[in-house]
Amino acid sequence: ARDNRVKLVEVGPRDGLQNEKKTIPLATKIELIERLARTGLDTIEAGSFVSPKWVPQMANSSDILEHLLQQKIHSPVPISYAFLAPNTKGLQNAAALLKQHQGAFTTQANPAAPGDKTPKPAVEIAVFAAATESFTQKNLNCDIQTSLERFKAVIQDSKALGLRVRAYVSVVLGCPFEGFDVDPRKVAEIATDLLESGADEISLGDTTGMGTAPRTSNLLKCMAAAGIRTEDIAMHFHDTYGQALVNTAVSLEHGVRIFDSSVGGLGGCPYSPGATGNVATENMVYFMETLGMDTGVDLDAVADIGAWITGELGKANDATVGKAVLGA
Ligand code: HMG
Ligand code: MG
Repeated sequence: ARDNRVKLVEVGPRDGLQNEKKTIPLATKIELIERLARTGLDTIEAGSFVSPKWVPQMANSSDILEHLLQQKIHSPVPISYAFLAPNTKGLQNAAALLKQHQGAFTTQANPAAPGDKTPKPAVEIAVFAAATESFTQKNLNCDIQTSLERFKAVIQDSKALGLRVRAYVSVVLGCPFEGFDVDPRKVAEIATDLLESGADEISLGDTTGMGTAPRTSNLLKCMAAAGIRTEDIAMHFHDTYGQALVNTAVSLEHGVRIFDSSVGGLGGCPYSPGATGNVATENMVYFMETLGMDTGVDLDAVADIGAWITGELGKANDATVGKAVLGA
């Protein structure tokens, strides 16, 4: 039988909120995560252990992690909460909380028991490299080589704690500073380095939304030529130019089955001027359904959350499908 399962990684609470200028109350962030956890989504990026001077909006990520470890959320599927860590300091801050709440989460060695009705969540770490020197400098204040050395330490320490690691490569299809000139072989080289360091999954970020169908196809061919397995690849599309679903279709044809998306189409990177939201989870779920693919996600529930959170933020709801199913 053809495998029609697609895994969606919900990045709304992190990518969706990190760029907001006004401080979002902790309670709103927690409500967002808890509501998303009840929709069938099984991986939710919940925060970021980065420098609060660099990304003030993510400053209370430790409160979020602590809440998720203390409060069992009733969810239809076992959930993994992902947190970004740019360096050892970020991981140590997360690890200190995990140590305080040992036994409150599952690890790769001790996963949820099958049939457990209220399984403990898993926690995963996300590191984030980029394919150009200029973006790496702006986002991480170091060069690519240094970033990869730092990430190797973060990945290895995370794995030692039993945590799964996803590794982003940003600006894979266009860079706010270097334009379309991003070498797909450089992307493959960085991805290979991160996998060799122990990352479980590579998320290829079209940070600027500059990706097009042919260039997405070319990138994935380059990844395959470099020996990177499709099952280790996730695609992370921003919809700045409205090409995210087209690029998703191309990625599906290349065998990719993991996609990042954000409820309400929220999102943007503070270090990528002009970049707008991620592809909306609502649009992604609907698109997969039209193709007969199974995301396990309740579209109506996600549409409600998209309308609610964009209202909370005082923003337009960019999820066209969300608005359509709600008749809004
Ligand atoms: P730096 O200034 O070079 O760091 O920044 P430093 O090591 O020199 O430390 C400076 C200060 O920050 C020190 O404090 C450190 O303790 C503190 P001080 O002594 O001045 O009081 N510090 C930290 N505090 C808390 N947590 C930490 C941490 N590290 C240092 N982890 C650094 C280097 C990497 C820290 C900084 O550049 C940074 O935090 N960058 C993160 C940028 C970011 O979060 N960008 C958005 C996420 S990436 C994205 O959105 C793209 C993605 O969605 C995919 C896509 O779309 O392509 C993932
Ligand atoms: Mg992003």
